[in-house]
Amino acid sequence: MFRAILLYLSRARWMKSLVTHWGLARRVARRFVAGETEDDAIAVIRKLNGMGITATVDILGENTTNAAEARRAADAYLHLIDRIPQEKLDSWVSVKLTALGLDVDPQVCLENMRGILDCARQHDIRVTIDMEDHTYTDRTLDMLRGLRKEGFKNAQGVIQSYLYRSEQDIPALANEGLDIRLCKGAYREPASVAYPKKRDVDEAYARLMKTLLDAARGGGGYPGIATHDPRLIEETRDYVGETQVDRVLFEFQMLYGVRPGLQEELIRDGYRLRVYVPFGSQWYPYLMRRLAERPANVWFFVSSLFRR
Ligand code: FDA
Repeated sequence: MFRAILLYLSRARWMKSLVTHWGLARRVARRFVAGETEDDAIAVIRKLNGMGITATVDILGENTTNAAEARRAADAYLHLIDRIPQEKLDSWVSVKLTALGLDVDPQVCLENMRGILDCARQHDIRVTIDMEDHTYTDRTLDMLRGLRKEGFKNAQGVIQSYLYRSEQDIPALANEGLDIRLCKGAYREPASVAYPKKRDVDEAYARLMKTLLDAARGGGGYPGIATHDPRLIEETRDYVGETQVDRVLFEFQMLYGVRPGLQEELIRDGYRLRVYVPFGSQWYPYLMRRLAERPANVWFFVSSLFRR
């Protein structure tokens, strides 16, 4: 119920306006967001790289409403991608198709994606297309497959274990050799398309994780096991041990600011870890999704506001 309210608020304009105009809220949001500028993100990535952690950097923004805005978002990515090698950073990038104009015109979005992938390819950088709510799943996967067919092998995707359809999508994508990030899913979805119970989402995650790792062992894709769930991480470690999946064939992924202790532990134990580093002025919906994932974060957020 609480999660549903927070996810509703993540889309409410009045709440967005209230929170984002509050300087103090902006500063507290920095627990999950690297900052508002490219330089802020670069400083965070440099620190992570120094700890042996790779990154995937995301310019916050979603649901752009016109082609010019989508073009500006794409240009910001091109600038960022050029800076990654200049700054000698080890980072991929993550993008959202709705930030690049999917709702405005799929052709505009496709052109923006081609530009980003082409630039990234020149620097040997991979681009992960984040998965948004279920109304975008088909369009996102279709675009991903189309771009791969055009030769953009540096394009990769995300699958959410809360969707029933993922049981079919994962084997198909793994069979095509696509690199997939597996996450639980962060949006408010109806029971007609997604498991309403957390336990079912977790069980599906474990099944899909095994399918991806089996495929990786057979040369099919490079999975990103994106979760902070200690039980699923343990289950992944056990499975990798039992089935002797080489540790270079997959990586764990986590979000910036979430469970840093667990992040350090994985690195210490010799696993690959990539951290998702979001930055930019459009941090409000991202922050609300992080609060929805863990009610204790709401308390952290509110108490930090009062402490200051
Ligand atoms: P779960 O929510 O069950 O949390 C397990 C434990 O992790 C919690 O008990 C808590 O200790 C800790 N934890 C989790 N979230 C926390 C938070 N916000 N703050 C503090 N502690 C927290 N989703 C999506 O729909 N599309 C996408 O493209 C992506 N991309 C993505 C990339 C990466 C690298 C990650 C790690 C996650 C995503 N997600 C995502 C988000 C994902 O779907 C999911 O909402 C969150 O990862 C939370 O789920 P967990 O798997 O961590 O489990």
